[in-house]
Amino acid sequence: MLHTNLSVNEKGHLTLAGQDVCALADKYSTPLFLMDEERIRNNCRTYIGAMKEFFPAGSRPLFASKSCCFKRIYEIMAEEGMGIDLVSPGELYTAAAAGFPLENAFFHGNNKTDRDIEYAIDSGVGYFVCDNLEELNSINETAGKKGIVQNILLRLSPGIDPHTQKKISTGKVDSKFGTAIETGQAKELCKYALTLDNVCLKGFHCHIGSQIFEYDSFANAAEIMLTFIAELWRDLGFETDILNLGGGFGVRYVESDPFIDYRENIKGLAGEIDRLCAALSVKKPAILMEPGRSIVADSGVTVYSVGSVKTITGYKSYVSIDGGMPDNPRFALYESDYTALIANKADREPDLVATIAGRCCESGDIIQEDVSLVTPERGDYLAVLVTGAYNFSMASNYNRIPRPPVVMIKGDGSDYVAVKRETYEDLIRNDI
Ligand code: LLP
Repeated sequence: MLHTNLSVNEKGHLTLAGQDVCALADKYSTPLFLMDEERIRNNCRTYIGAMKEFFPAGSRPLFASKSCCFKRIYEIMAEEGMGIDLVSPGELYTAAAAGFPLENAFFHGNNKTDRDIEYAIDSGVGYFVCDNLEELNSINETAGKKGIVQNILLRLSPGIDPHTQKKISTGKVDSKFGTAIETGQAKELCKYALTLDNVCLKGFHCHIGSQIFEYDSFANAAEIMLTFIAELWRDLGFETDILNLGGGFGVRYVESDPFIDYRENIKGLAGEIDRLCAALSVKKPAILMEPGRSIVADSGVTVYSVGSVKTITGYKSYVSIDGGMPDNPRFALYESDYTALIANKADREPDLVATIAGRCCESGDIIQEDVSLVTPERGDYLAVLVTGAYNFSMASNYNRIPRPPVVMIKGDGSDYVAVKRETYEDLIRNDI
C-alpha cells in the first residue's frame, strides 16, 4: 500500500494503524475522518530527531497548523515538543484553548490586523513572522504600549519557483507574501527594523511552496537567504540567529509519487547549509522548518458511504458518495491526486473506472476523476487515502452539509473522537 500504516485484513477490509476502517465507519457513521495518532507522533519525531542531529543548536520543526487544526492536534504537538506556526487569531485561540505553550508559537500571515497583533502579544506568542512595513510598525507600537520587546522574524521572498503547482508556490518575487530580496526592499526593511525599540529582529523566514520532493529547492532558498544574511553581516554588522526555511516537503498521495525519506533530505540540506555558511563566512543560524502536510497527511483516511453507481452508456461512470468538496475541496481547487478504494472490498481487483462525485449541487464537486475501483454497491464504504492534511482544515459547510468528525486511532488500537460530528443545530447556531 501507499504507506506502512495502511493494509488489508483477513476480511478483505482496509485497515489504518491496524484497525478495521469499516468497523470504525460502522461505529461512527460516515463521512468520517480517521487519523492515526502514532503516525503523527512518528512524523514529529523524525523531524525533531533529524533537525537536532544535523542542524545547528536551537534548530527545530514548527508544525504548520493550517494543515490540520483542532485542539487535540496542539496537545499532541506540545507532548512531542514541536513548535507551531499559526496563521490566524483563530488558530491562535485554538492552540491557547488546548494549553499549547505559546512561547513556542510563530505567528504568520500577510495581513495581520492591529487587533490580531494586540491579541497575539497579549497571548504571549513567542515570535511574529512579520510580513511588511505597516505590520512592523504596528507590532512595534503595540509592543511599546505593553512595555515589551517582541521577537520577530522578517518574511522575505527569495524569488524561487520550486516547480510545484502555481497556486501553492509562494516564494517567488511576485508574491503577496513577504518582502523581496532581489529588489533591495528586504535590506531596507531590515535596516528599519533595527532602528525600532520594541521589536527584536532574530532572523528571517521564507517559504517556497508545497509538495516539494527533494531538498535541492530548499538548498537554493537557503543559498539566497544565507547570501543575504552574509551581506547584512558585512554591511550592517547584523548577526542572524534564526533562519526559517518554511514548510513544503511532499507526501505520497498516489503510487506514482516518490517515497520521501525526510531524515535523508534534512541531512542533505544540512550539508549544503554547512558548506554555504563556510563559503560565505557567516555564523550558522539555527534552522527552523515548518512542515504541515508531511506531519499529518499520511495519518489520515476519509471514509464515505457509496450512494449511487451510475454508468452513462457510452460515456463514463460516476460513484456518488455522502461527502465531497465540503470535506475535501482539493480536487476542485487544485485537481489534486488521491488514491481511493472500496474499503470493504479492498482485497479484490478493480473492475471499474469511475469518477467519484460528492453530494453537492455543483458539477465540480468531484473527489477524483477516472479512478480504478471494485464496482461498489449502495452502502459500501469508499475510502480516500492520505487525507490528514488540508482536508479537515479546509472543510466548509457548503450546501449546509455538517462537517464530519475526526476520530483518532491510538497506538494501543483504541479510538476516540477528537472533533465531534457537526449537527444541524451547529449549522444554524449563529443564524439570527
Ligand atoms: N509555512 C508557511 C509559511 C506556509 O505558507 C505553509 C503552507 C507551510 C509552512 C506548510 O507547508 P506544507 O509543509 O504543508 O506543504 N491548501 C494547499 C496547501 C497550501 C499551503 C500553504 N502554505 C493544499 O491543500 O495543498
